[in-house]
Amino acid sequence: MTPVKPRTLSGIQPTGQLHLGNYLGAMRNWVAQQEKYDNYFCVVDLHAITIPHDPQQLRAATRAVAALYLACGIDLTHATIFIQSHIPAHSQLTWLLMTQTPLNWLEAMTQFKEKSLRQGENVGAGLLNYPVLMAADILLYQPHAVPVGADQKEHIEITRDIARRFNSLYGETFRLPEPLIQKEGARIMSLTDGTKKMSKSDESDLSRINLLDAPDEIQKKIKKAKTDPIRGLTLDPKRPESTNLLTIYALLTSQALESVAQEFAISGWGQFKPKLTDATIAFLEPMQERYRHFTTEPGYLEAILKQGAEKAHALAHETLYQASTNLGLLLPP
Ligand code: TRP
Repeated sequence: MTPVKPRTLSGIQPTGQLHLGNYLGAMRNWVAQQEKYDNYFCVVDLHAITIPHDPQQLRAATRAVAALYLACGIDLTHATIFIQSHIPAHSQLTWLLMTQTPLNWLEAMTQFKEKSLRQGENVGAGLLNYPVLMAADILLYQPHAVPVGADQKEHIEITRDIARRFNSLYGETFRLPEPLIQKEGARIMSLTDGTKKMSKSDESDLSRINLLDAPDEIQKKIKKAKTDPIRGLTLDPKRPESTNLLTIYALLTSQALESVAQEFAISGWGQFKPKLTDATIAFLEPMQERYRHFTTEPGYLEAILKQGAEKAHALAHETLYQASTNLGLLLPP
């Protein structure tokens, strides 16, 4: 008998294009550790509609993110890939959990405060309840661990708080998951401002390298990337751009950060940037090739997503049933 592996669940929003920050901060770790776990990876399209969006772009991005999961090396013998909205239990459990979540917990979330500031008057209730939907995503699958970037820690904490509260009020229902946060590379910064996270929502496309960027775009972006007037690259919190680009280089070439820092300690930016460009293009090319393969073969991706949804549904439904019963909902005959 093969021992049962611990389970993980994680997800990425299909808003905009996936970039190196997504890959180096999260997906790369998913792939590196996938054999140790029974993994569930979803494309969280219901989260993507909590901010203003374009329906057609959302559909395309949802498909693209699923294909990039495969292209970056997620292996279906260790993982289930599915689309969040294909499993109605995510929406259903969200309602159940919303009734049990104190409003002030949600109002205190950093992401809500930031995003609602940006949106002014028109803050949808979905933005406030975003963390509850995320808690439902996670708790439905009873995972032991949630592999995410460092910025998601607060969301895992509120998930645990909601689960703990539910369990204590209505009996043991949910497993409390642990965040699984990789230290190195967990936070890749913007190319145009080394103090800001590389982000899909940054207005400037020059701030990020998208996983599907063509070689000439990559070259242009790295050429324009912010530098400082100091010669020689160092790992120095006071030099965020230098630290960030060295980190990216080290991760893409699978070298230790320290040895990369040594290599470029006396090089000028003009020597370093072409090397970073070459490394980035060489790294992304095979991924882009696999992406094209998965997206051009008709029905291929659809078949994977259908299978994924069936597997995810079975697990999610069990937890939803348990939560409904424990809350005292009368089940249909
Ligand atoms: N909030 C996550 C992000 O922005 C996305 C997400 C939604 C997620 N549901 C999840 C991540 C469940 C992990 C598990 O990156």
